[in-house]
Amino acid sequence: MNSIIRPRRLRRTEAIRQMVSENKLSPEDFIYPIFVHDKDFKEEISAMPGIFRWDIKGLIEEVKRAWELGIRCIVLFPKVDDNLKTEDGAECFNEAGLIPRVIRKLKKEVPQMAIMTDVALDPYSCDGHDGLVDQDGNILNDETIAILEKQALTQADAGADFIGPSDMMDGRVGAIRKSLDKNGFIDVGIISYTAKYSSAYYGPFRSALDSAPRLNANKLIPKNKSSYQMDPANAKEAYLESSLDQFEGADILMVKPGLSYLDIIYRLNNFSNKPIAAYNVSGEFSMIKAASMKGWINEKDVVLETLLSFKRAGAKLILSYHACDAANWLKEN
Ligand code: PBG
Repeated sequence: MNSIIRPRRLRRTEAIRQMVSENKLSPEDFIYPIFVHDKDFKEEISAMPGIFRWDIKGLIEEVKRAWELGIRCIVLFPKVDDNLKTEDGAECFNEAGLIPRVIRKLKKEVPQMAIMTDVALDPYSCDGHDGLVDQDGNILNDETIAILEKQALTQADAGADFIGPSDMMDGRVGAIRKSLDKNGFIDVGIISYTAKYSSAYYGPFRSALDSAPRLNANKLIPKNKSSYQMDPANAKEAYLESSLDQFEGADILMVKPGLSYLDIIYRLNNFSNKPIAAYNVSGEFSMIKAASMKGWINEKDVVLETLLSFKRAGAKLILSYHACDAANWLKEN
């Protein structure tokens, strides 16, 4: 062999590899999703070992720990008691509800941490859908948006830094942006679930919140969310959704799930001038956890490689249940 080009020269030593490395993970890239419930104990989620539904006190400590590790943003998800769930999900805009209370407490105890919220009806709806369901099983777009606006305002009023519409109703980003502005919340940002696919990878999350679509004796309930979340077969639609969200005033565009949709992250990062976020969702977390608990893969190496792949694909931000572990491992390295 007499090639003058030998790529291995740049892989020869650790120093040289570091010199030419194109991407680097850091804790500020992570947004840490946290589950909270209205109890006075923490409870491990069975399909997500190491991830808990936190009580408010424990959650404050967990958020302080995350800040110490270099994480700069969290996103909150509530496990709402069954007796508060209704068809219209009205608990989502209760000022004294769990999420507004948690935000207020966090802003007092850990004011430096940025807080993102989730806007959708599913944790609050007895039907388990992100929008209102009519008698025939249709998810009502415009009627839902009117409720989501109230939910977003309640979260902004409590002190949220970023509103995260995850519902996939058409036009919701624009409607939320307008009502935030009209009510004086011009500095509250929107991290939009822009390309959110109808995915089986959300399974563990839905069991964590007990928020999966549920049978109802009085009406038809669609078993899945495919009439509003995107078809996994489609990429072009992601361009359309991102154009709309950007035009409607989103500050950051999210792709979800992350791992099976790296191509979508890559496309949107080239297409848009907004930062891209990737959601490393619950099912992706559980697969790595399960295999590493069996001793079949090395958890640390697989997690860091996975998170790095989101950055290489073009995501600036990564929502991940591995956030604290990864931040710890990055410190060790
Ligand atoms: C609710 C919501 C979901 C997730 C985030 N917000 C579930 C869903 O759409 O059914 C999934 C997150 C995860 O799986 O980690 N609208």
